[in-house]
Amino acid sequence: MSIPAGGIYAVLGANGAGKTTLLRSVLGLAPHDGSIEFDGNSIGEISTFRRARKGIALVPEGRRLFPDFSVAENLRIGAINRPPSPDVEEDMENICGMFPVLRTRFNQRASTLSGGEGQMLAIGRALMSRPKLLLLDEPSAGLMPKVVREIFEMIRTIPQQGKTVLLVEQNARKALSVADHVAVLEVGRIVLEGPVSELRDDPRIKAAYLGG
Ligand SMILES: Nc1ncnc2c1ncn2[C@@H]1O[C@H](COP(=O)(O)OP(=O)(O)O)[C@@H](O)[C@H]1O
Ligand SMILES: [Mg+2]
Repeated sequence: MSIPAGGIYAVLGANGAGKTTLLRSVLGLAPHDGSIEFDGNSIGEISTFRRARKGIALVPEGRRLFPDFSVAENLRIGAINRPPSPDVEEDMENICGMFPVLRTRFNQRASTLSGGEGQMLAIGRALMSRPKLLLLDEPSAGLMPKVVREIFEMIRTIPQQGKTVLLVEQNARKALSVADHVAVLEVGRIVLEGPVSELRDDPRIKAAYLGG
């Protein structure tokens, strides 16, 4: 796979296709064959820590927040690789601007958030590392349509910050509404790949993911 910089690249696939494993392997959290390049450098053999330092952040499946820490603390943890600086507070401000509900919950424990708020916090926490590449694992999972819409409206704007998004989804309709490129994953293999403008109406995607 080749992910063009500065856009949204969606990977569709059924449950068990290997989507999570794909994202985890980019960060060295799952093993891989072949090679992984990022920004022209080979990163397949360096530690997860160093890959994160190079500008890759994961919003994991199931969000994985720190439930007993506040919203503010969860955000600050996202900046753990950055030196303390006023920029960190500024970024927290910006993220609360993107997701205003986080500001209203700022000092509440993450465990008190709704599913949608938790997903917003998970995305915010990942953005706090100032990644160049954001890996999103099924951000729509388990959320009501209205909340999914809100989150995808925000995801759509991420490339405007000069970032690249690799988005894994079972919600094909939603993913295709924001992505420029799409790939279909079946049992660990890419079976179809290309610009969304060409593949949106492809019968193979329609039949499998959009209800025909
Ligand atoms: N490329 C692969 N080669 C071998 N096993 C894989 C590969 N990708 C995923 N798996 C295995 O398949 C199972 C489902 O993968 P997962 O990444 O959780 O799928 P998804 O996120 O699409 O539901 C896991 O047990 C994983 O270890
Ligand atoms: Mg998964």
